[in-house]
Amino acid sequence: MKAVSSKSDLLLSVEDLRVFFHGDGVVSRAVDGISYEIGKGETVCLVGESGCGKTVSALAILGLIPQPPGEINGGKILFKGRNLLDLDEEALQKIRGREISMIFQEPMTSLNPVFTVGDQIEEVITTHEAVNRLEAKQRVIELLTDVGIPSPEERIRDYPHNLSGGQRQRVMIAMALACRPEVVIADEPTTALDVTVQAQILQLFKELQNRKKMAVLHITHNLGVVAEVADRIYIMYAGVMAELGDGEQIFRDPSHPYTMGLLAALPSRSRKGQSLYSIPGAVPDPAHKPPGCPFHPRCPYVEASCRREFPEMCDFGDGHFARCPIIHRQRTGN
Ligand SMILES: Nc1ncnc2c1ncn2[C@@H]1O[C@H](COP(=O)(O)OP(=O)(O)OP(=O)(O)O)[C@@H](O)[C@H]1O
Ligand SMILES: [Mg+2]
Repeated sequence: MKAVSSKSDLLLSVEDLRVFFHGDGVVSRAVDGISYEIGKGETVCLVGESGCGKTVSALAILGLIPQPPGEINGGKILFKGRNLLDLDEEALQKIRGREISMIFQEPMTSLNPVFTVGDQIEEVITTHEAVNRLEAKQRVIELLTDVGIPSPEERIRDYPHNLSGGQRQRVMIAMALACRPEVVIADEPTTALDVTVQAQILQLFKELQNRKKMAVLHITHNLGVVAEVADRIYIMYAGVMAELGDGEQIFRDPSHPYTMGLLAALPSRSRKGQSLYSIPGAVPDPAHKPPGCPFHPRCPYVEASCRREFPEMCDFGDGHFARCPIIHRQRTGN
């Protein structure tokens, strides 16, 4: 598989990150020891059901976890060799938007309703770069052209509510690209959109990525979306990593029962007419996770040990790993 090929290609690595939330006398272990890597120019996908900790792990990268109630309980986030968790707010502000930027899950909550979209994109540029207003405005128009907004000279005077959902999402992408960052985190950038617009936005993103050589961390709950774009896929469940591999390994040879369930739940032409499968049960509340493997109450392969022991990450070869000793034993005999 296409792993990060050498140390010099590695841009961002999250190592054994833990983010907990405190409240009502309980501790929510939202992110509970996850690791992932992103190399230069790669598209890495983080996939998992709602509430499994995808957004929290991304916010931690940018230093945006509200503390309290949040607390970084361990781990490292290395960006070009520096641990972002050790940086103060001033140093993080220099990185945010300029070196690592994020497209947030909800465009309407991240765009300011009282400023025009032109002013909002311009502000990202002038915050980080010494350019005059005219240059900045020119850059805004180029960015809006790049993301496929027609008549950008007129659109810059629009307020967010004047735009359609798809156009707002394009504006968010333009803002994220404004300072030509090395890493863009795209958190469910298309879920609020209809399927045709989703496909357009993903295509656009791929083109821009190829042209600008950015690395992208693509976050989604939809495994179907990532098939085409991912160099590497990380499957998260209840704050831990369940499986990782390239598209071929995940789609042809899923090795964690949770991944198998996600794949079975995808609509498919060959199952046309049959009712859609869904994994029984629900993601556990991070304040009340079951002992042992967090997936065991929903798992068709469950054995007694799964109810007691937290499973180790098992090596399925060529960079393909899954946290399931049961499937590993079935496949390898040991
Ligand atoms: N500020 C907060 N205070 C308390 N708990 C929080 C906070 N932010 C997130 N959580 C909890 O952390 C857990 C993980 O949330 P997160 O937003 O990362 O999920 P997600 O995987 O992004 O889900 P979705 O697909 O719905 O976006 C959830 O149980 C959530 O309730
Ligand atoms: Mg989320």
